[in-house]
Amino acid sequence: MELFDTSKSVLQEIRLPADEFPNVRLLVKRDDLIHPEVSGNKWRKLKFTIELVSYQKKDGILTFGGAYSNHLLAVAAACKFAGLKSIGVVRGEELTATSNENLKRCSELGMELIFVSRESYDERAEKSCQEGWKEAHPHYLLVPEGGANYYGMVGCQEIVKELPEKVDHLFVAQGTTTTSCGLLLGSDEKTRLHVVPVLKGFDSMAEMRKLLFPFLIDEETINEYLERVEVHSEVHFGGYGKWNPELLDFITHCKTAFDLPLDKIYTGKAFYALMEWLKVQNFQTPQTIAFLHTGGLNNG
Ligand SMILES: Cc1ncc(COP(=O)(O)O)c(C=O)c1O
Repeated sequence: MELFDTSKSVLQEIRLPADEFPNVRLLVKRDDLIHPEVSGNKWRKLKFTIELVSYQKKDGILTFGGAYSNHLLAVAAACKFAGLKSIGVVRGEELTATSNENLKRCSELGMELIFVSRESYDERAEKSCQEGWKEAHPHYLLVPEGGANYYGMVGCQEIVKELPEKVDHLFVAQGTTTTSCGLLLGSDEKTRLHVVPVLKGFDSMAEMRKLLFPFLIDEETINEYLERVEVHSEVHFGGYGKWNPELLDFITHCKTAFDLPLDKIYTGKAFYALMEWLKVQNFQTPQTIAFLHTGGLNNG
């Protein structure tokens, strides 16, 4: 299924001063350019899920998200384009379809919004809760928050095919780990994968292990894959949705100096981690460093 054209996701070369960064070729994979609303990793994560909805002859997707969720908006837009229905279960019973621009847009795109209390939202992954949603909406495929399922991971594997053959270091922001797990599975065994969790105290390795298990089954194989992962766990700027003037200045600098737009929740932090890491490297041989732009620009 080719709803969105991924050829719009170009590889942008970031020119850095060679005396400060010797032997570095830095490329940004601009997945944010795929679509304004199904941007970044969103289309990658949804592609096979949408295919599955058609195979299973369901009416649409039921999924979960917070009031500002990039994922909810992406599901609403992708379903609209695919001629499917969508239901968004939103965290916060006090909210309405006009509480913010994100929810307004989801609603305009035809998404039915169901507002639930924080307590019942927090139970969304429990088996009984999932069964309840399935029973109430039998013609919808349930997709977890953030598109974090097997199909999302498989879709993200495809990104690697659009990168140069030899990538020595690949950087990506991490939330649910779906994107990073896909990149890990798809990339060459010589590529080191650098993950930048945006949540404070997040156990990247444990979360990746959980998601990889149904795919790889064997603990030893999982360990082999995870040996290629480097976690940059101290670049969360206080945690999810938090930032400071230093991060905002960095984002402004990247826009002016490199014509690279970044958001302050995910990609700004991940690119910051990359640049801090680069400053302390001293490569003796040419290295190709790639950064995956996972989008998020519509939420600032
Ligand atoms: C813009 C953006 N970047 C990165 C991520 C993190 O991706 P993942 O949840 O697959 O780790 C998300 C969340 O889905 C996101 O919205």
